Amino acid sequence: MSALLVEATRIAREFDYPAEQVRRGVAEYIRQADEGLAKENTTLSQIPTFVTAVPNGTEKGLYLAVDLGGTNFRVCSVQLHGDTTFSLTQSKIMIPRELMASGTSKDLFTFLARQIESFLRIHHNDHFEAHQRRRANNAAVEDLFDLGFTFSFPVRQFGINSGTLIRWTKGFNIPDAVGHDVCALLQSAIDDLNLPVRVAALVNDTVGTLMARSYTSPGKTGTLLGGIFGTGTNGAYLEKIEKITKLDSMKDVHYDKSTGEMIINAEWGSFDNQLSVLPDTIYDRQLDEESNNPGIQMFEKRVSGMFLGEILRRALLALHNDPQIGLFKPSETSKWGLDTSLLSLVEEDTAKHYPAVKAALKDHLKIENPSDEECEAVKILVHAIGKRAARLSAVPIAAVLIHTGKLQTDELVDVGVDGSLVEFYPNFEGYIRDALREVTEVGPAGEKKIRIGISKDGSGVGAALIALVASKDETLQNP
Ligand code: GLC
Repeated sequence: MSALLVEATRIAREFDYPAEQVRRGVAEYIRQADEGLAKENTTLSQIPTFVTAVPNGTEKGLYLAVDLGGTNFRVCSVQLHGDTTFSLTQSKIMIPRELMASGTSKDLFTFLARQIESFLRIHHNDHFEAHQRRRANNAAVEDLFDLGFTFSFPVRQFGINSGTLIRWTKGFNIPDAVGHDVCALLQSAIDDLNLPVRVAALVNDTVGTLMARSYTSPGKTGTLLGGIFGTGTNGAYLEKIEKITKLDSMKDVHYDKSTGEMIINAEWGSFDNQLSVLPDTIYDRQLDEESNNPGIQMFEKRVSGMFLGEILRRALLALHNDPQIGLFKPSETSKWGLDTSLLSLVEEDTAKHYPAVKAALKDHLKIENPSDEECEAVKILVHAIGKRAARLSAVPIAAVLIHTGKLQTDELVDVGVDGSLVEFYPNFEGYIRDALREVTEVGPAGEKKIRIGISKDGSGVGAALIALVASKDETLQNP
């Protein structure tokens, strides 16, 4: 084997995440999860969402939903037909970079409200104009659209439709928004434009994923867990209210307690920020130091799409910098810019002479004519980084299943997932399942009971479903 491949293989080994470590990870996750249910300011935030039931597929109505959380802002209207199906009309717009990381919150929310306005003008113009006429005549304003606001960042919720931003993640950074109620910010930008819209619910994308999955494939027991493995990673699951003891200090919030359960947004991207059990390579450390939030989202930085490309770039750089080896130089301009599609393409290509790897290296890294051996080295690293991410993903899934006791019955346990990694990275679910079987309390028998299904459009349909819950029950609105 050439020096290049020997060294690539050596680096790849640093990304091994053996069964023993998976098991330690699960035990530690369960510990941090319990701590997060009991008090505030823990690494695993375990945020109560005040959504206390999952849908059963019979819900009906027309709702608006918007989604802020990745590179695009999405506006949609969702017609729930009440028979597990829905129709969705949507528009998507890329968020200008300067609004994500330098402007003020007013700039950002005004931009969002303008997108809602143009969506309404295109798709619901009659409703929109009728509303404008009523306002012009000072008539009572009625018939507002209820909107579910999918805001996929850590938020301390004070009810189903209010919550203050704890911190930005995934490359967003608008300091003046931190500590403010993001629903109020959106509502005020909407009101400035006189739009017929009421922000009825605040929704994390993982909560939306869980709700959407439960609506579209209702089972005997409903969906237990919604997970995102995309630009970021996080999960939401159904917890017994009696176990969420930190709710005791929030006695003035109204919510329906009759189901005895509530969806918790775990914010597992920040699992084990202290690195007591997470694997840690030099590449992980360098990446963290140069990120705009060092020391936090440590799990996410090892698992999600926004970071895997950057880990890869750093590992390739190590091969380039080794004078014995001299691999091509990965470009500086692709710093933070290598997305998961590159990893998926590379992992997928098993053809002779690696045509897809070559095309991907050209498109993403501006590398012309890499040798077959260089492509092989890239493949070795991609495989190691992707597989570690998938095996790490099994940790919170296993921990939630064990912690909720759901594997102890004979029923299937349903998990809804979304995001570019689970959807496109070859065999991502397979690697998750391998690791799940290695967890003692899950084992091969438990793993077979876990149904994992893609839940598309969680942020649209799921947000609509939560807007529905919120609009139907006035007592759910925080007074
Ligand atoms: C980040 C956010 C979290 C979101 C996840 C997936 O981890 O903090 O709220 O759910 O990304 O988009």
